[in-house]
Amino acid sequence: MGKAIVTYSSIYGSSRSYAVYLASALGIEAVDIKDSKPSSGCILVHFGGLYAGTMSGLRKAVQLLPPDSRLIAVSVGLSDPGKEENINRIDEVMNRMIPAGIRDRVERYHLRGAMDYSRLSKHHRAMMWMLCRFLEQRKNRSDEDQQLLDTYGGNIDFIDPETADPIAVRVRALLS
Ligand SMILES: Cc1cc2nc3c(=O)[nH]c(=O)nc-3n(C[C@H](O)[C@H](O)[C@H](O)COP(=O)(O)O)c2cc1C
Repeated sequence: MGKAIVTYSSIYGSSRSYAVYLASALGIEAVDIKDSKPSSGCILVHFGGLYAGTMSGLRKAVQLLPPDSRLIAVSVGLSDPGKEENINRIDEVMNRMIPAGIRDRVERYHLRGAMDYSRLSKHHRAMMWMLCRFLEQRKNRSDEDQQLLDTYGGNIDFIDPETADPIAVRVRALLS
């Protein structure tokens, strides 16, 4: 394979911070997916935040992917990727955004991000308000539903750069 390219699409900075960490481990620069031009035969590693059924920048990464290249799609969200049900949910999101014809060239990783309510846009704040009102009504709340309610309005930070280390190992293996 040719070279690695690390991109991100990040509204509040979590995906960007992981992308910068990985790119620095690989000795390259991370770039916003909007400014990226992946070259033929590359390994494109894209980091994007999860936002209610979408992954930021994933559609663009798929569009830009040259035919002979591989994509490593890395989701960054609040939900715990240690739980199978969460991975399945994120996979469904990704499957809607990655055409079946290219899925054999795509690998997936899932990392945890952060959310600081004081930095949320009005629109996102309204979405979280609605989600929490909905969860309050729910009888059988999961631990994660409860955690979201308990942390509503605050500052949650699950960012752990070292959780991206296996991606660096994988990229190096693909490049060698
Ligand atoms: C409106 C809204 C919707 C979100 N939806 C999800 C979600 O469906 N799944 C999830 O795991 N995290 C969700 N999150 C949390 C974000 O994915 C998390 O804050 C992430 O770190 C954002 O990445 P970014 O800062 O790179 O944009 C949501 C956050 C907001 C504000």
